[in-house]
Amino acid sequence: MIKRALSYFLWAATAIVLTIWSSTSSFAQDSAKGEKLFTQNCASCHNVGEQKLIGPGLKGVDTRHDEAWLIKWIKNPAGMVASGDEAAVKLYDQFKPTMMTAFGSMSDDDIKSILAYIKEKNAAPEPTTGPTGGGGGQAVAAAAGDQSSGFFSVVLVALLVVMILMLAALLGILGVLNRLSSVDPNSPEAEKIPFFARLKENAGKLGNSPAFRTGALLLFVLLAGKATLDGMYGIGIHQGYAPKQPIAFSHKLHAGEYKIDCNYCHTGVNKGKQANIPSANICMNCHNSVKASSPEIQKIYRAIEKDQPIEWIRVHNLPDLAYFNHSQHVNVGGLQCQQCHGEVQTMEVIEQRSTLTMGWCIDCHRKTNVNSKDNKYYDKLVELHASKGVKEMKVADIGGLECSKCHY
Ligand code: HEC
Ligand code: HEC
Ligand code: HEC
Ligand code: HEC
Ligand code: HEC
Ligand code: HEC
Repeated sequence: MIKRALSYFLWAATAIVLTIWSSTSSFAQDSAKGEKLFTQNCASCHNVGEQKLIGPGLKGVDTRHDEAWLIKWIKNPAGMVASGDEAAVKLYDQFKPTMMTAFGSMSDDDIKSILAYIKEKNAAPEPTTGPTGGGGGQAVAAAAGDQSSGFFSVVLVALLVVMILMLAALLGILGVLNRLSSVDPNSPEAEKIPFFARLKENAGKLGNSPAFRTGALLLFVLLAGKATLDGMYGIGIHQGYAPKQPIAFSHKLHAGEYKIDCNYCHTGVNKGKQANIPSANICMNCHNSVKASSPEIQKIYRAIEKDQPIEWIRVHNLPDLAYFNHSQHVNVGGLQCQQCHGEVQTMEVIEQRSTLTMGWCIDCHRKTNVNSKDNKYYDKLVELHASKGVKEMKVADIGGLECSKCHY
């Protein structure tokens, strides 16, 4: 009985420890995510500290405005100014005529993680030594951020040790109580039991208790497992990869603001396997007149003069063993680029948003209906399915899970 109760107790304690562990690591991840989002979207205009760039320094924004206001502002600053919100109008007057870009597609969680990052960054102790200029200062500050998450781990390990010790003590006490309760307190035998001698004896026996052993082993296996999985999940996956490109080409500007069609540059998407990266000639359709003197555009001129392609860094890259065809998905399947590549039209620097793992491909093939509208190719198949009473035809049903479709 008692043993069973003990093992339940151990399970519960383990669960508590693991919950604390995973919630704190997701806290660290939150602010890491915030940092990434900030760097990509906000750093061009804002400093996390007090310094003014194009917009105000963001130190202490959470004390200047409440969270709901901030979320509304970041999603639609111009709308807030237009609506006559007092704080918004005051800000606008201060920075006229510059107006902050709207981030309408950013989720509340994304914004909260940016705010968490700003707050954490300003709470971290200022580095006392080291370079203060531009990049150097940033690197030092980033290291301080790392240190604080390292500090977290230390606190967690200490907590764990304390919990294990407490468990051991509790188990010992329970053991003693168990024995005492089996002795009639009025019997002469009871008087002979030196309580503390018993306690000591029981502590010695603790190591032999199966419940304690199972619990300790379980705790160890779970923790080791978590550490290993955390490490392994990352191998070969480049989600979030966003290298700096040789020319500061912006999808946000071209595909977002100027609404140039993806196909205009990625000429292969409807025709074949590759989407293609545009050659410099395509850029020249516009840039022989647009902003020709800009140093970034001059780089395109130089590439053409030297007759060398621009060395764009490849972002998405499946291993050779897998076959992926764009026209199959975009033209036949009718999918949007954004379903696989994310909101490209908002990206200043292109970034890999999907994992590109086999599980990712298969998952979508299981969930997605084949687009059979206006596609004679599928008419017979749809009929066949309908005759069997199957209304939906998933990609999986037409062979989308067959190994040979994706592997030669
Ligand atoms: C194109 C430049 C630009 C970008 C990019 C930008 N901002 Fe701003 N931001 C401004 C300007 C300018 C203001 C001042 C108000 C105005 O004139 O629009 C401002 C004001 C703010 C304020 C109010 C600050 C205060 O002191 O009250 C917050 C908060 C803010 N921005 C957050 C963000 C966040 C978060 C991002 C990234 C998701 C971002 N901004 C991206 C230019 C920018
Ligand atoms: C004006 C030309 C142009 C337009 C329009 C354009 N792109 Fe691009 N795209 C490029 C160039 C140049 C690159 C390579 C440089 C880079 O990565 O930013 C690129 C890269 C990419 C990449 C990453 C390629 C890799 O290396 O893995 C994706 C994905 C992409 N574009 C998707 C889109 C989508 C989706 C749209 C439409 C919403 C679009 N592009 C519109 C020119 C364009
Ligand atoms: C359909 C027309 C069009 C095409 C094609 C085009 N661009 Fe642009 N590009 C623009 C416009 C418009 C601007 C904004 C100019 C401005 O800010 O006044 C711009 C701005 C830029 C800028 C920013 C320049 C600066 O200093 O502010 C870069 C860099 C750039 N384009 C690179 C490219 C590259 C590389 C390609 C080819 C892959 C390309 N563009 C293709 C229309 C085009
Ligand atoms: C079903 C998912 C999916 C859709 C939809 C999709 N892509 Fe891709 N895209 C990929 C994958 C996967 C790769 C990596 C291919 C490889 O490495 O062979 C890729 C690679 C690319 C590349 C890098 C160059 C290349 O051809 O490998 C560009 C550019 C690109 N996609 C643009 C687009 C555009 C533009 C659209 C919309 C018209 C689009 N993609 C729609 C999954 C998709
Ligand atoms: C819808 C497409 C698709 C189907 C169907 C598919 N695979 Fe894959 N597979 C991939 C892609 C993409 C990769 C590469 C990405 C990765 O390693 O996760 C891959 C990777 C692999 C790898 C290498 C894993 C590694 O770690 O390098 C093996 C082995 C594999 N697949 C076996 C199979 C077998 C066996 C089947 C049939 C039961 C199958 N695949 C069906 C898309 C597919
Ligand atoms: C967002 C959803 C989505 C993702 C992600 C996706 N696919 Fe597909 N795939 C489709 C759809 C829809 C079709 C059906 C197109 C059609 O009608 O033929 C399809 C069809 C295919 C086919 C042809 C299957 C057949 O039997 O004709 C292959 C091969 C394929 N996909 C490979 C891949 C690979 C490899 C990946 C991952 C790198 C991938 N797909 C990721 C949606 C997806």
